[in-house]
Amino acid sequence: MSQVFHEIEKKIISVLKIELKLTPEKLEKLTLLSPDQVRRGIEWLKHKELAIVDASTNVEYSLGKNGLESFQRGLPEKRLLDLIKNNPKDISDLQKELGSVFGPAMGLAKKNDWIDAKENKIYLKNYPSNLPGEKSLKQIGEGITSETQLDKADLASLLKRPNFLVENIVKTKKISLTKTGQSLDVTSPGSGAIDVEAKVPDVFVARTHPLKDTIDEIREIFVTLGFTEILGNMTQPSFWNFDALFTPQDHPARELQDTFYLDGISSKEIGTPEQIRKVSESHKKNWRYFWDINEAQRMVLRTHTTCVTIKHLAENKSDEARIFSLGRVFRNEKVSYKHLVEFNQIEGVVVGKDASLRNLMGIQREFYKRIGITKIKFWPTFFPYTEPSLQTMVYNERLGKWIELFGMGIFRPEVTKPLGITKPVLAWGGGIERIAMLKYGLDDVREFYNNNLNWLRNVTKCQ
Ligand code: PHE
Repeated sequence: MSQVFHEIEKKIISVLKIELKLTPEKLEKLTLLSPDQVRRGIEWLKHKELAIVDASTNVEYSLGKNGLESFQRGLPEKRLLDLIKNNPKDISDLQKELGSVFGPAMGLAKKNDWIDAKENKIYLKNYPSNLPGEKSLKQIGEGITSETQLDKADLASLLKRPNFLVENIVKTKKISLTKTGQSLDVTSPGSGAIDVEAKVPDVFVARTHPLKDTIDEIREIFVTLGFTEILGNMTQPSFWNFDALFTPQDHPARELQDTFYLDGISSKEIGTPEQIRKVSESHKKNWRYFWDINEAQRMVLRTHTTCVTIKHLAENKSDEARIFSLGRVFRNEKVSYKHLVEFNQIEGVVVGKDASLRNLMGIQREFYKRIGITKIKFWPTFFPYTEPSLQTMVYNERLGKWIELFGMGIFRPEVTKPLGITKPVLAWGGGIERIAMLKYGLDDVREFYNNNLNWLRNVTKCQ
């Protein structure tokens, strides 16, 4: 059976039959193929056991700062010897002449007994016929740089000198044909067809990040359910992140170890005078403490997206609304398999005169169903801004465990009244990475940010 070869393979084989062993770069020159074609051709031939690739590492030298100077002006000791070759010279003159290389030159010349010193004068004793290192210096300067081409002993003396040589480790590949490869006749008729089954290199097309896909999917679900997306700032005055949400100023969530504060930065305009007055009254009356505006003015990296929805509601006071917000939030927590210092949240509210807890649970069920989660239950919990407050628990089949997902509830009158919101508000929110972990079967949230190319390239997009 005659083998079928690609044009690229034929060119590579023909060249290697004559040249025997070549680097990919040489192959490119001789075949006039592109680097990528040569790379592919080599892969195909290797796969068919017609070619082999020898990889080797080689040390190459180039001249360092002092090496270059010596290459141009001569080795320091040579310069010294030449200066006193005909007449002895004063030390001070030599120092002036040789500058910084005077010391090393004198050291070497004395050690080798080439010079003598008498009354501040330096005399020549013997002029060596060859100076160690001189030959290698010349060769490297002229482009003979590979360790294998240089004289070992001579090179060693150069290597001892500071900043003379720079060592470069160079990896080279050499391609040659196997015995079978050598015996091929690629010029014979019949070898021109294309082997459609030949192996080609893997090509990785650009794809969106799996987390981004989850974000887009969630956004799409809420849009289809009739919700409108709103955006907010990642930095917020504490007022919107905490105070407007009836979170007292001594609440543990507001402490430094839970929240990132923008050091020394306070917001001048946190809200309208009426909003500030009414929110502060709500705190004073219900929590019974001294409410401090300075605390409310401190800027934070938002710890949840609830600040975005509450601000929007306070500014719009709609009697009916379906709104969602999506984005990055920040918490000063220890990073672990389930916690990151920054992550993404999805947050939603429904405002309506008849909105009820039952509706809220129905919306959650619908959302989870659309994302592919059906085994869920609701659990009572606490948030300073909702009453009643619930937590969705979803069942993770793989781990055989119930895990917490969204927090939710109906905004308390202590939150809505001061801001002029008159109709009931159903609100919920939670981490997107948690959902993505379920979708992609990950046990460690850090995986999303590790940039593990293997995972990113191979993760199944439609789970
Ligand atoms: N803000 C809460 C969190 O970050 C979630 C939540 C939103 C709870 C709205 C109740 C109402 O976990």
